[in-house]
Amino acid sequence: MTIPIPAEDPRHVPNRAVVDPSAITENTRAIAGTLAGHTALMAVVKADGYGHGMLTAARAALEGGATWLGVAHPASALALSRAGLDVNILTWLYEPETAKAVLPEALRAGVNVSVGSFEMVSLLSEAARQADRRARLHLKIDTGMGRNGVLPQDVRRIAAAIQEDDYLRIGAAWTHLTSADDPADPATDAQVEIFDAACADLAEEMGPVPLQHLANSAATLTRPDLHRDIVRPGLALYGYAPVPTDLELRPAMSLTSRLALVKEVPEGQSVGYGRTYATSRATRLGLVPIGYADGLHRAASGRAEVLVRTAEGDVRAPQVGRISMDQIVVDLGPDSAARAGDEVVLFGAGAPSAEDWARAAGTIPYEVLTSVSGRVAREVLP
Ligand SMILES: Cc1ncc(COP(=O)(O)O)c(C=O)c1O
Repeated sequence: MTIPIPAEDPRHVPNRAVVDPSAITENTRAIAGTLAGHTALMAVVKADGYGHGMLTAARAALEGGATWLGVAHPASALALSRAGLDVNILTWLYEPETAKAVLPEALRAGVNVSVGSFEMVSLLSEAARQADRRARLHLKIDTGMGRNGVLPQDVRRIAAAIQEDDYLRIGAAWTHLTSADDPADPATDAQVEIFDAACADLAEEMGPVPLQHLANSAATLTRPDLHRDIVRPGLALYGYAPVPTDLELRPAMSLTSRLALVKEVPEGQSVGYGRTYATSRATRLGLVPIGYADGLHRAASGRAEVLVRTAEGDVRAPQVGRISMDQIVVDLGPDSAARAGDEVVLFGAGAPSAEDWARAAGTIPYEVLTSVSGRVAREVLP
C-alpha cells in the first residue's frame, strides 16, 4: 500500500506556484506557428507538466494547437485519457510490473506506447493480447543517449519480431537528442545520420515508417529540418527556451510567498546555518517562509534574488545566508518600506526567472520548475 504524505492545508501556508495556462497556450501557439503544415506538435507534459500540473498544462497546450501529448509513465497517459483528453498520447517509460498493471488499460484507451527493447516488445505484446487490441507502438532508437531505445544494429531484428506479431504494429520511429541545446555540437547531426539509417533499415523490413520524430524544444527552435512529422517540445511550452530564439515565450509559473517578519539588524549580523553571511551595514532583513523543502535549491544560497512587493513599489532583494528547509532571509536594505505580509516573488513575471535560480544553483530551469514540491499549492489563473 502506498500512503500519501499528509497535505498541509494550503489556505494556511502562504507559498504558491501560480500557473498561468494562457502563457502555455500562447507559447504553444507561437511554436506551432513555426511548423510546416504536416508537422504535429506533441506537448510534453511529463513530470506533472514540468511542475505546472499535468492536466492544466495539457489542456492549455491543446488549446494552443498541440495535437499530441507525451508523458514518461503509462500511469500519466491513463490519467490524461481518464480526464477525457481524447487526443494522441504517447508514453515511453515502464518496467515489467508497471507494464502488466497498466498497459492493457492504456491500450484499451488508445494510448500509443513506445518500445525500446526486445523485452518491452514482449511486455507490450502480452498487454495487447490481454486488452485484445492491436498496439500502435513507437519504436525508440538509441542514437547516442544510451538510455531507452534499441541500438541501431538491432533495428532490423526487432522490426522483424514486431512484424511477426499480429497484436503489434509500428506507428512511428523516434529518438531523443543529447545535445540539441548546443546548436554547434556535431553530436546532433551524428544522431540524425544514425536515425535516418535506422529508419531506412526499418523501411526495408516493413515499408515506409508512418511517422518519425526527434525534436525537443531546442531542436524545434533551431532545426526546422528536424521537425519531421511531430515535434516534442517541453520546456519551451512553459516559457523557457534552452537556446536563443526570437520567439516570445512567457514563463507560465510564478513562485510566490509572503514576508513573515522584517527586522532591523546592526552591521555584522550573521545569517543562517554556518554563518556564511554577515551584514556589511545596519540593514533590514526579511524572513520568507519558503525553503529547500519547497523546492528552492540550497546550492543557490547567497546567489539568488527575489522581488518584494512593498507599499512603495517592487524592489529586488538578495537572498543571503544559507537556504534552510522552510525559510530564507533576504536583505531588504536599510531604508526598505517592506513589512510582514508583503508578497515575495521568488521567480516569475517581472521578477527573477527560474533561469536565474538555475544559474545560481548551477542547474537548469527544468530542475528548478520540477523541484517545486508537493507542499506548494498550485494556483491556476482563470
Ligand atoms: C523523450 C522526450 N522528448 C521530449 C522531451 C522534451 O524536451 P524539452 O523539455 O527539452 O523540450 C523530453 C524531456 O526531457 C523527453 O524526455
